Amino acid sequence: MTDVLAYEVRRVRGEEEMAAALELRHDVFCVEQGVPMREELDGRDGEALHLVAVSDGDLLATCRLLFVGPTVQFSRLAVRRDARRQGIATALLKLADDETRAGGARRLVLHAQTYARSLYDAAGYLPRGRVFMEAGIEHVAMEKQLP
Ligand SMILES: CC(C)(COP(=O)(O)OP(=O)(O)OC[C@H]1O[C@@H](n2cnc3c(N)ncnc32)[C@H](O)[C@@H]1OP(=O)(O)O)[C@@H](O)C(=O)NCCC(=O)NCCS
Repeated sequence: MTDVLAYEVRRVRGEEEMAAALELRHDVFCVEQGVPMREELDGRDGEALHLVAVSDGDLLATCRLLFVGPTVQFSRLAVRRDARRQGIATALLKLADDETRAGGARRLVLHAQTYARSLYDAAGYLPRGRVFMEAGIEHVAMEKQLP
């Protein structure tokens, strides 16, 4: 029988957890995917809402929401390699919807890496525009209007 990973998704709590989230982003984006550090750390983290997935004190995943008027810019979604394909990113996308509504916004936009597009398709995002390169990685813009 396969063990099911028990975790919770919620807002980041405290400086230590935020540091762990930034470390995970560094490992995933800069080390694993080769994104330059100056692009990963774009200076906007201080104004963002950060969400995390945590299991038994271990930080498994993170993402970031930037409220810009009625729109939320969703980004920096990273799941620890050994915790992937267990629905954690999907759970963070669901929480992002809830946080968007709670913050008074109704629309989310993001740049999806094309290899993972089905993640966002399944969460109700629609593509807009052409495929483009960002940080050397193929992306497509996607958006979701909340009912
Ligand atoms: C992409 C990423 C966030 C997905 O996280 P995850 O927790 O594994 O995603 P989920 O388990 O919720 O996956 C849900 C669905 O998304 C799709 N998906 C997820 N990872 C995928 C992959 N590597 N390749 C293709 N489809 C993928 C699948 O349809 C999957 O359903 P399935 O497992 O039943 O086939 C994770 O692989 C990651 O951190 N990658 C490196 C960083 C990155 O690419 N971030 C996204 C930037 S847009």
